[in-house]
Amino acid sequence: MSMVKVAVFASGKGSNFQAMLDADNLPCEIVLLVCDQQQAGVLDKAKQHGIETFVFSAKNYESKEAYESEIAEQLRKKGIEWIFLAGYMRLIGPTLLEAYEGKIVNIHPSYLPAFPGKDAIGQAFEAGVEETGVTVHFIDEGMDTGPIIEQVAVPILANDTKETLQKRIQAVEHRLYPQVIRELIQK
Ligand code: GRF
Repeated sequence: MSMVKVAVFASGKGSNFQAMLDADNLPCEIVLLVCDQQQAGVLDKAKQHGIETFVFSAKNYESKEAYESEIAEQLRKKGIEWIFLAGYMRLIGPTLLEAYEGKIVNIHPSYLPAFPGKDAIGQAFEAGVEETGVTVHFIDEGMDTGPIIEQVAVPILANDTKETLQKRIQAVEHRLYPQVIRELIQK
């Protein structure tokens, strides 16, 4: 029986991508990494693990529709069924949303709907709230909106700095994302 094929989309360091690669019994094969930044650290991680990459520069295309059509074509050719966003810093447009309806999932470092958008950890830290968290959700056309699949609360401790908070949030992310991916794919 062949494994379900998935793609990961990322723009940055790729610690969540690494957590997926390291996870035991992930019932899928990561066959493609899609990345919009030529210098992203996540590309080295893909290389080390022999995972094919599709790297693009949005500025070389006339529209989101143009680059997403090319991505969709790559995904189709490879028989990819799911897309997992892991620090992909672009909104997904109608082209991919329609091609992969109900099959695009994101992880966000806050307890949504609180603190959507960039630097969610910094936003929570600055706001002085007692608790933030991690959310895994299906995506829609909005920024960190879309039906929530799973959330974990993370307390902000009195002696936390943004860095210590970030470390604890990332540890939760690295455990939660593989677990949710496993559950989604096995359904
Ligand atoms: C993570 O905090 C994720 O929740 C957010 O972007 C960050 C990506 O980090 N969407 P990494 O590149 O996986 O280390």
